[in-house]
Order: sequence, then C-alpha cells, then structure tokens
Amino acid sequence: MKKLLFFFSLISLHLSAQTIQQDSVYIFAYASTKNAGKNGLELAWSTDKVHWNKIGNDYGFVHSDYGTWGAQKRMVSPFLYLSNDGLWHCVWSLNEQDNALAHASSKDLINWGRQSYPVFTESQNCLLPEFRYNAQKQEYVISWLSESANEKKVFVATTADFKHFSKAVQAPVSLRLNKRIELKLGERTETGVVIKVSAAVVNNILAYFANEEKRQALYRENLYTDTVKLAHLKPLKASVKVDLTGKKAISPMLMGIFFEDLNYAADGGLYAELVQNRDFEYNLADKKGSDKTWTSTKAWRTTGNAVFKIDSLLPIHPNNPHFAVLQAKQQGDGLVAEGYDGIPLKAGESYFFSFFAKNIAQKEGKIAVQLSDAQGKIYATGAVLVTGKAWKKYEIMLAVKESVTQAQLLLLPVNAGTWAFDMISLFPKNTFKGRRNGLRADIAQKLADLHPRFVRFPGGCVAHGNGLDNIYRWKNTIGKLEARKPQFNLWGYHQSMGIGYGEYFQFCEDIGAEPLPVLAAGVCCQNSSVGGAGQQGGVPLTQMDTYIQDILDLIEWANGDLSTKWGKIRAAGGHIKPYNMKYIGIGNEDLITDIFEERFTMIYKAVKAKYPEITIIGTVGPWSEGTDYVEGWDLANRLAVPMVDEHYYQSPGWFIHNQDYYDKYDRTKSKVYLGEYAAHIAGRANNVHTALIEALHLNSLERNGDVVAMSSYAPLLAKEGHTQWKPDLIFFNNTEVKTTVDYEVQKLYGVHAGNTYMKSDVQILDADEYVQKRFSVSVVEDAQSKDLIIKLVNILPVSVETTLSLPTAMYATEATKIVLSGKLQDTNTQLVESKISFANNTKVQLPAHSLTIIRLKKK
Ligand code: AHR
Repeated sequence: MKKLLFFFSLISLHLSAQTIQQDSVYIFAYASTKNAGKNGLELAWSTDKVHWNKIGNDYGFVHSDYGTWGAQKRMVSPFLYLSNDGLWHCVWSLNEQDNALAHASSKDLINWGRQSYPVFTESQNCLLPEFRYNAQKQEYVISWLSESANEKKVFVATTADFKHFSKAVQAPVSLRLNKRIELKLGERTETGVVIKVSAAVVNNILAYFANEEKRQALYRENLYTDTVKLAHLKPLKASVKVDLTGKKAISPMLMGIFFEDLNYAADGGLYAELVQNRDFEYNLADKKGSDKTWTSTKAWRTTGNAVFKIDSLLPIHPNNPHFAVLQAKQQGDGLVAEGYDGIPLKAGESYFFSFFAKNIAQKEGKIAVQLSDAQGKIYATGAVLVTGKAWKKYEIMLAVKESVTQAQLLLLPVNAGTWAFDMISLFPKNTFKGRRNGLRADIAQKLADLHPRFVRFPGGCVAHGNGLDNIYRWKNTIGKLEARKPQFNLWGYHQSMGIGYGEYFQFCEDIGAEPLPVLAAGVCCQNSSVGGAGQQGGVPLTQMDTYIQDILDLIEWANGDLSTKWGKIRAAGGHIKPYNMKYIGIGNEDLITDIFEERFTMIYKAVKAKYPEITIIGTVGPWSEGTDYVEGWDLANRLAVPMVDEHYYQSPGWFIHNQDYYDKYDRTKSKVYLGEYAAHIAGRANNVHTALIEALHLNSLERNGDVVAMSSYAPLLAKEGHTQWKPDLIFFNNTEVKTTVDYEVQKLYGVHAGNTYMKSDVQILDADEYVQKRFSVSVVEDAQSKDLIIKLVNILPVSVETTLSLPTAMYATEATKIVLSGKLQDTNTQLVESKISFANNTKVQLPAHSLTIIRLKKK
C-alpha cells in the first residue's frame, strides 16, 4: 500500500515537510469564492482524487495584480496547465465585466513570472477561460465565454507565447473542454481543475511550505514578545574590537528624505499657503461624487446676503478655468475662506494677501480684507481697490498683533457690486528662508535638521498617478501659479501645484540636498481606480516620444544654461544658475510587466544617450522579494541600470532576520536606493520599538554603504486629522510640528553619518543566536571631521555592558555619548547627551532598548 510519511521535529515543534512516497498525485487548482478570488490561486493535493489536502490556510500561490485594491485584484476561474516544456501556465478571469484575461507562468508553482492582461476587444467580457495545446500548430487555443444579460457566446483565440494573441473569433460551444469540477474542501465547495503531476512537484511545494511557515514565524517576532520570551535574561556583557584597517567606503548620499504629497503633506502642510481651494478648482468628479462638498466652492462660504457663483468664462489662464463671482448687495455681504481647518495666525507676523480680481458691473470698488475669528474678533484688516474689467493681481500686507489658531479670511466689498476673484492667497511672510510662495518654516526646518543628502519628490504613488491622465507632469507645476495645472491627488485630495518642481529644487538647494525627482516610467499606478478597471496603463506608444521629450526637457530645465530653451525657462522663473541635478528616478514600485518594460527601456535609453552623466534609478516593485522584485532586478541587470529603487515596509522580525539582506548583494550589479522603508507593528505606531528596529537596519545599511547608495524612510509627513497612512516620520497640525522617535533615529544617522565603514569584531558573552541578533554595531568615520562614530543598537530587554577597544592613541580622551532609549511603547523620548572619558577598553553601559552613539575626535 502506498503510504504518506509524516515527520515531526520534536525539538523545534515545527511540522517538517510532509513527503509523498509515490510517483504521481493529483492537484486541484482553484480560486476560492471566499474573498471573491482575492486569495489568488490555491492548491490542494490528493493521491486518490477522493481525499484532498489543502496546501496552506487559504494560501495564494499567485495573486491577481489587476486593478485597484478593494474591489479588484481578483482571480476568477483560474485554469492551470502544465506545458510540455515543464512550465505551468495559469490563465484567469479578472472580474465579470472586463474584456481581458490574465496570464502568468511558473516553473514550480511557487515562483511566478510577470503577469499580462491581454484585451480582446471583440468580446464583451471573458469568463471561464480554458485552453489546450495544439501540438501540430504549436500554439495554445484559449476559449472563454462572453456573457451579457441576453446572450452567451464562446470566443477563441490562439497564441504561441501568451504575449501575442490572434484576434478573438466566435466559436461553437462544442469547442469547450469543460474540465472544471466541483470539490468539497472543508466547509466550502470550490470549482477548479484537477491535474495529475509527479509527486516531486507537490513534495517540493510542501517542503517550501514548511520552510515558509518557519520563516514567517521568525518574521512575527517582535520586541514586545521578546520581553516575555527573554524575561529570564540577566544584564549582558559584550566586547567590540574596532579594526581600523578593515575599511570600506560608504556612499555619501546614504541618508535622504522621501517627500510625497500624502496625508496633506503639501497643500495644507509644507506649502505655506493658508487659503484652501484658492483656485476654485476642487471638482465633484474628482471624488466620483462621494463627497458632495468637494466642489469649486469647497472651503468657501458667504456672509450676509452675498451671492457666490463659480464661472469659467474668460479665466485668468486655461489651466485654471474656474473662478469666483461675488455679488454684494449691501455692506456685510462677502466671501469667506475657511483655510485648512482654519487659518492660524501668529502675533507679530506679517502676511501677504493677494488675489486676482476684476470688476464685473462697475468701474472700481473697494474690497475690505479682514482676518477674524468665528466670534468676529478682528486680527488684521486691509483694503484693495479693484479697478477695471480685466484680471489684475493685487497684493497687500496684513500685520497681525495677536495669535489665533482658527481665523478666517473675509473679502468684504465696501459698496454693492459684482466682482470676479481667483487665486485668493494668504501667505506668511516668514516662510522657510523667507522665500515667496515658500514653505512653512517650522516643518521645513525639521526636514533640514535631518541633514538629508537628497530629497526625493513628488512621490511615491503620486508620481505615477491614478490612471494615465493623473501621471504627475512636471511641466504643469512650474512658472506662474495661476498658469500651473492643479490636479487631483491619487491620495484623494487636491494638489494646487503651488509646490512644484521649482519649489522642490529650491528647497533642495536651500538645505544643501541633491534633488531626486521621480517620474513615471510611462505607466500609471497598477492600483489605479480609473482607466478601464484600473489595470496598469501605458502611455500609448505613439505618445512616448513626447513623453520622453518631457523627461529630457526636465534635465535641460534643471541643468541647462541660458542658451538652452528650458534653461532659459528656469532662469525666467527666478533661478539663473543651473541646479546641477545628478539623479533621476524612473518609475515607482511599478508592476513589472511587458507594458512597463517597453516604456522604461525607451526612457532609460533616451536619457542615458543624451545625459550619460545622470544617474538613472530604476524600480524593482513594492516588496523585498517576489515577482516584481525578481523581474525588476532582471531588467535592471539586462540594461545595466546604475541604481534601483527598492521599497519595503516590514515587521520587526523581518528586519531582525534580514540584517544580512545586503551583505548578500552582488557588488558588480546596480546600486540600491532604498527609497521607502519603515518598521510596521500592529496598530502602525511610531515608537521606541519601531525606531530601534529602524536603527538596527540603518547599521546594516551603513555596513553595506558600498552597495546601498541612498535610503529614505517613508512616508515623511502627516497632518493630524488627515493622516491616510501610518506610521510617518513627522506629524503636524496648523501650529505644531511633532517629530517621532523614528525621526530622532533618522536625524542621528543623518547628523552622525560616515564616509568610511570600519570593521569590528563584536562578541556578546554567553549569548545564543537569538540574543546575538538583537545587538548591532556600526563604526564609521566622517571624512570631514575625521571623527570616529560608533553606533550601538541594543534591542534586548536588558542592558549590555560593552567594552570598546580601538587604538585610542589616535583619538581624544573625551568623547560625546548620545543615548536614545525608553519603553518600547513610548512615542516620545529625550536624547541624553553627555561627555565621557575614553580610553582603550572603555566600558559603556548600553541600556535595555537603546541606541547609543559615541563620537570620538581624532587627535
Ligand atoms: O509611502 C507611501 C506609499 O507607499 C507610496 O506612495 C508608495 O510608493 C508606496 O506604496
């Protein structure tokens, strides 16, 4: 009798891989109706087609990446097939409406290649796909049902490679294979296909699975559970011997920041404009009608009996088509700007009020401008005489004597009349570096304090946009404010483009950071909710020349001298000297598809040919592994892309067990820009726990600073009350900026960065691997100051007395010690800075859950 052998490891208590001792078995491939197919392709196996074993608990071997999160990303009716060359092909329906199918292939059913979504315009929708191989013609024959309320048709198309398909034609019902069967698996009845396979196929999957379970258990480790698990631990002793001869270079660009207009980071945030919807361009359609207040009048109201309308006839500029028309019949009738949760005013500060206005019914008229609170208390007043029937810009300064957090801006015509207004703006004079149209000084200063070597902008997903029409176009964001093209933000609100490329570049210059603009790779976000069902769309190939030219123009705008067209435009915008931009990102964690590859390659080649001196940064998907990571790296290797942008938000356990992630990287391949990362814990808090885990990772990044050229925590900013994504580095409201513990860690690594990494021998006495992994040391030297900087991360729940040995004769006997420590759940912590005497074999007490930095001056 054929037997199944089960092995249990009594030591680890993990279920080891189950091994099937027979030649062949059956697999059942299906997408569970539970969760509407979002679990992806599931598998069960059986030796007799009677007793079935599910593999994993709702485990998806491949998930559909089509469409937006929530309603889409469904795998419906998958059809799995093993081709003669040993490759598994899976074709599935995406949903009930779209006339497209999905395809992916795999060598082992575990690792899957890129997905494609061929569209069949002849068909209404594509349901229940199935296929067979026609050996004679060496092609696959795919058929599916196209169903509408009153008709059901069978369509068929052929393909040799699942990339190029024949036109779909109608076919007789008799052509259908109808191989799907229903099986009861646990509580549910599932529909799928049964395939006979060699037992080795399933054994391999089971072995993978057992390993995966162990791996995921490691990734679930965290410091909260450690406090229980390591409750027995007594304070430890460690030694760190620094080897000044074992040096390697660290990228001088390692520490940077990632700015994205997410969580109201730009408008209502870093951008100092105080008037919300100053351009009257909010649009009901942007939120698909879900927010009835999201119209051109959002954040505006009237006083008295004023009549307020929106018009679009003869606007200031076609890019800014809507404006306000105010009819005042008597004194007290006026227009009120509510601001972003109110308008904060500071005592002793001056504010620029400006607007475009024209008289509609009379020659001239005075508008009183008032800053007051809801109770009518006035904080500042001024007046503007609006003359003529043509648009003109008016500006006055308002001085505020008393602070208030929630003021409003009132435009009160002195006499009856009708006016048109647009671009109604109120700006503090005191912006960061005093720039007009500038940034909020307090937030910008906190960013500068991080000492970032570069600033990435404008995203994130904002860069590639929600649908092709929403791709962030840099040319729409420069020049006069009234001529910029506002657009809806992928994160669900309005971007005035008041912070545009000019402002981003200027900010970089102001803080001594390199600009790193990231542009869409000719594709929009794969999670888009517009454009068909939202599949990743590609800029039509016929428009790619123009799209690429826009990217080349950006480089000319940034770096060209006054003899160039775009250099001249930059200079006319106020920045005569070229910015000397060195980096450009193409793509943001895109799905690596054929559509992406074609467009990325076109852009990459064009930029490289024209500007070989620019470092182009490609993209390798949103995860630290998986299809997009593999495919993205494969493409980068083929094209020899100088750098790739990696993203991962991971659990503490992942970071603890991946400290060697980059040690394993091939130094001859592309460099890495770790563009987005953060430690995510349950509840997505920012606290000592997450911050120390990030410090642990930063030690690894410093050690691998030869291959990891750049890094940035993400996201950066979040406005209280408008936070869409947590955790973030900095939270703020209209008057306060609240940095996180994670911010302190980033700042410490930014300020105490090094250019050379020094090897060191680290030993913890009487500690097993579990404990060893929770202690990390990075020793670096700063080229400018020649200081030696030792960063010690102790994520254990006990203190570690650490003996530091290094050739002390080279260093001053006094060192600076900075300690960040606290309870894991603390969201705030004070750094403790002190001077310590330093001699060889100096002992330093590292508190439980702490980061300690020791900075030594060279003699
Ligand atoms: O950082 C927030 C988002 O995370 C970014 O927009 C995107 O790139 C990633 O998915």
